[in-house]
Amino acid sequence: MNLFRKKTIAQILSEAESGENRLKRALSAIDLTALGIGAIIGAGIFALTGTASAGGAHHVGAGPAIVISFIITAFACGFAALCYAEFASMLPISGSAYTYSYAAFGEFIAWIIGWDLILEYAVGNIAVAISWSAYFVELLRGFGITIPAWLSTDYVRAMNTPEILNSAPHITIPFLNTTIPIIFNLPAFGIVALITVILVIGIRESSAFNAIMVFIKLAILLFFIVVGAFYVKPENWQPFAPNGWKGIMTGAALVFFAYIGFDAISTAAEETKNPQKNLPIGIITSLVITTILYIAVAIVLTGMIHYSELNVPEPLAKAFNSIGLNWAAGIVSFGAVVSTTAVLLVFQLGQPRIFFSMARDGLLPKWFAKIHPKFKTPHVTTILTGIFVAIPAGFADIGEAAELTNIGTLFAFVLTSAGVLVLRYTNPNAPRQFKTPLVPFVPILAILTCFYLMLSLPLITWIRFIVWLSIGLLIYFTYGYRHSKLRTLS
Ligand code: ALA
Repeated sequence: MNLFRKKTIAQILSEAESGENRLKRALSAIDLTALGIGAIIGAGIFALTGTASAGGAHHVGAGPAIVISFIITAFACGFAALCYAEFASMLPISGSAYTYSYAAFGEFIAWIIGWDLILEYAVGNIAVAISWSAYFVELLRGFGITIPAWLSTDYVRAMNTPEILNSAPHITIPFLNTTIPIIFNLPAFGIVALITVILVIGIRESSAFNAIMVFIKLAILLFFIVVGAFYVKPENWQPFAPNGWKGIMTGAALVFFAYIGFDAISTAAEETKNPQKNLPIGIITSLVITTILYIAVAIVLTGMIHYSELNVPEPLAKAFNSIGLNWAAGIVSFGAVVSTTAVLLVFQLGQPRIFFSMARDGLLPKWFAKIHPKFKTPHVTTILTGIFVAIPAGFADIGEAAELTNIGTLFAFVLTSAGVLVLRYTNPNAPRQFKTPLVPFVPILAILTCFYLMLSLPLITWIRFIVWLSIGLLIYFTYGYRHSKLRTLS
């Protein structure tokens, strides 16, 4: 039984060449930075900053020390980013960590990573959709339109908030002689459904569209920082770290979500001018810019309103509302809706492509890789992804969805960083347009810091993660192992 059948680097590159036409190398370092910021800024900063500082269902909060959490996480991401850049320059084709691990570790680990990336892309979007919904409701409220709370929140929050529970319609279960409340996050469900339709029809993000998104994201966060700074009350920063180091690390493991997306830059490697230089510049610059903004937002936010009031999915709007600046809350809500829509598009587009690569390799059924005759999009996987994201988005808690996303993404970062070390040893002479500096130290630091963040996640998240991977193993051994193209060839 050979679980570790590998693809050679030459094989992967020739597959890419034989597929589509070679892409034009047109992207500069600035384009890549914009691409990164477009994928990065979203629910993490707009929503999870609140949950992470206040504490949530399963975890203690960092308090104002959430600032330190952002800095710690930025280092972990920075080390991992340098490893992604080396792989991206060696294997400049789509598929990201899934493709990289096929070369470094072989099919079995590649399958695990592909399966694991569903957590990053699809489950990540569940959290983003919930944040989108919260700001959308807030925005509508500004226009005098009220969506009832029972139709725009999740069960956990409703169960803990008597007003929501009491206002919800109840249905009677005849035989059990009991009633259950109807709680459904309709906007979160609706936006995913809408985006799925758009992606099946095949509207692609253009770089002009991305540039506008990036402009709005940066402008809104700067607006929050500058206006909010006038309303900071330093006494809100006391106590600074109410739950000490544990709070800071739990917060770090949660706001990690805010940085996810820089790894998506590596998928544009094939279209980059001088990737050796521009790829690492793009990845690192987008990380540095977002880190600085996140730190400033966190300082201002926890200064405007006491952290204990921030366990809501729309903390930035709440901060302005709490000081009576409803117009400013409206502007921020608009910005958050736009930002999270852009993130939803990037990941809702990315997930079907990963399924597509896996189906092409025979690890998933062929019909996954079907292309729509008229729209020329991978409609089967796009619709499946839509269903998989939209339904849970109608019920889930944002913190729990984000924690599951984070454990999966961190795991992919750990394996990708380890893959850099493995390939330096097994393929020392393969051309690397960009080399991770200070090997083996940077990859080892990436592995250790990302694993430490994984350890800072709650037990329930670990249990869900292990269950998810076990389901993946079952599918691999009953399907993928036997249908793998690599196996049929060898
Ligand atoms: N980093 C992305 C966000 O915060 C996933 O929404």
